[in-house]
Amino acid sequence: MNRWMGSVMTFACLVGVLSLFTGCDPQSLKFPKADAVAVMIPTEGQMVTGVVTFVEVTDGVRIKADITGLPPGPHGIHIHEYGDCRSEDGRLAGAHFNPENQPHAAPDGKDRHAGDLGNIVADQNGNADLDIVNPMISLQGANGILGRSVVVHAQADDFSTQPDGSAGERLACGTIGIAHP
Ligand code: CU
Ligand code: ZN
Repeated sequence: MNRWMGSVMTFACLVGVLSLFTGCDPQSLKFPKADAVAVMIPTEGQMVTGVVTFVEVTDGVRIKADITGLPPGPHGIHIHEYGDCRSEDGRLAGAHFNPENQPHAAPDGKDRHAGDLGNIVADQNGNADLDIVNPMISLQGANGILGRSVVVHAQADDFSTQPDGSAGERLACGTIGIAHP
């Protein structure tokens, strides 16, 4: 749900319009249900924050990202192999999650890292949204993403440079954990 829809639903909820349908739970409006979630933490000197949610669907995992504090323009975003966001530069998150030993590519590529999510494009206010289904991942198992991380980068992912799309510095890192049901 984008911010606008969220605001509309919150308002509608407050005036009771939707309460018959939604149960009017402010918590569920502010924090939509998800199977997994990553809260993005800025690396040193950055102010990039946001939330990424993951929902298992029949053809993979639906990923929604809501990121703020970005320089305007495109930024590479990936699932990285480790959920370790301790270091100031985000490097402990390791490389792109690549359980099938493929080259780096675009998110619609056939042979690619499972963690390749493409780019998010920030507007003039530094806000960026993403809503995609990734058929190469699951929550658990060999291609499972729980306990790994999401990383947002300074540059655009060019989808061809190996092994990382030349997306540059890491601006934010968030460990993927189990969401509250
Ligand atoms: Cu990355
Ligand atoms: Zn990659």
